[in-house]
Amino acid sequence: MVAKPPFLPTFGNKPYKIIGRDAVLEGFLKGLESVPGHPDRAMLIIGQRGMGKTALLLEFAELAERRGFIVASAVDNDQMLDDILQGVQRKGTPFIPERKPLVQGFTAGALGFSIGLTFNEVTDKTFGFRIKLSMLCEELEKHGKGVLVLVDEVQPDTMRMRELATSYQHLVGEGRNIVIAMAGLSHSISSVLNDKILTFLNRARKTRLDMLSDTSVRLHFAKTFKSLNKEIDQEALDDAVAATRGYPYLLQLVGYYILEYLGDDDNITRAIVANAAEVSRQDMADNVYKAVLNPLSAADIRFLEAMAQDDGPSRISDIQERIGESQAYTQVYRRRLLESGVVASEQRGELNLTVPFMAEYLRTRP
Ligand SMILES: Nc1ncnc2c1ncn2[C@@H]1O[C@H](COP(=O)(O)OP(=O)(O)OP(=O)(O)O)[C@@H](O)[C@H]1O
Ligand SMILES: [Mg+2]
Repeated sequence: MVAKPPFLPTFGNKPYKIIGRDAVLEGFLKGLESVPGHPDRAMLIIGQRGMGKTALLLEFAELAERRGFIVASAVDNDQMLDDILQGVQRKGTPFIPERKPLVQGFTAGALGFSIGLTFNEVTDKTFGFRIKLSMLCEELEKHGKGVLVLVDEVQPDTMRMRELATSYQHLVGEGRNIVIAMAGLSHSISSVLNDKILTFLNRARKTRLDMLSDTSVRLHFAKTFKSLNKEIDQEALDDAVAATRGYPYLLQLVGYYILEYLGDDDNITRAIVANAAEVSRQDMADNVYKAVLNPLSAADIRFLEAMAQDDGPSRISDIQERIGESQAYTQVYRRRLLESGVVASEQRGELNLTVPFMAEYLRTRP
């Protein structure tokens, strides 16, 4: 196996080490060890781009596999339900012992299966997602295996999520050993949660991913550089921590570029950190800011630009004055942007941009 690089600034990978997510990982493990239907067995991870949703789901997969679960991963697209079934079949088949043919020339599977976890023709044609998933869970359970379903990039209000939700509820009712974890951006999730049919999502354990603490970022940088026999003094380390603002993707970027600039040298200087921080922002522009702004309207962006005049949080009254619109208008956009997860409100009457260094980007972009 190729060794994992200490910093890898790409999306959708499992980092060398997951930092600062102990509570949610503990909750997940508790779910795995509990009975069907336990609230920790349905998890919903909510977070802005680059906060580590996919990374967490990948970690869940590994933890669950080690504990005897078959893991099927899918994203919320047209293929989702098929991908889930096929994922369970593909990963689960090696655990189903081959049976001796009853009659020469005929292979024999369990009831409804032709062989292993492949459905026979009648089952395949007759039944839908729910029954098939139930049959797979039942068969795997005979061999000591539970099933974990992972769904990334949850979209607002899709029929397939309803199908998955109702199936999950049925399977829990049947006492099946099933666990489900889903992840999505804030606005997708909030509109999914508004849907009464998906009450199960409302009952699911919801975790909103926060920024990583300075302490955990500092510790990770210090340990990683030490393990590579690289020296970093306190000031340079402070700068490196500050350059991430606790944002997981920036942690990977800053760490990666520090090592790039360092080359074969051993001493990480403040100048190296400053260079690394600067190029990291360029990657943030290409891979985060543009993606975050893309689905927004011109009026949303005008609102954000009004906020970007402040270095810290913006007062709603200042934003209203800067955009020159009514209070009602300002409130509509405030709500829209809060729902999208691009802004958050930590203090009454104030708003802040959630993605780090976004204000600087909005002020200086071409
Ligand atoms: N807890 C963490 N500790 C260290 N690195 C992390 C952590 N979470 C994520 N990362 C790193 O941050 C980057 C972004 O993570 P990830 O792709 O999981 O984000 P995401 O929330 O799924 O984003 P998107 O909404 O765009 O899909 C990756 O390089 C990943 O390795
Ligand atoms: Mg992702």
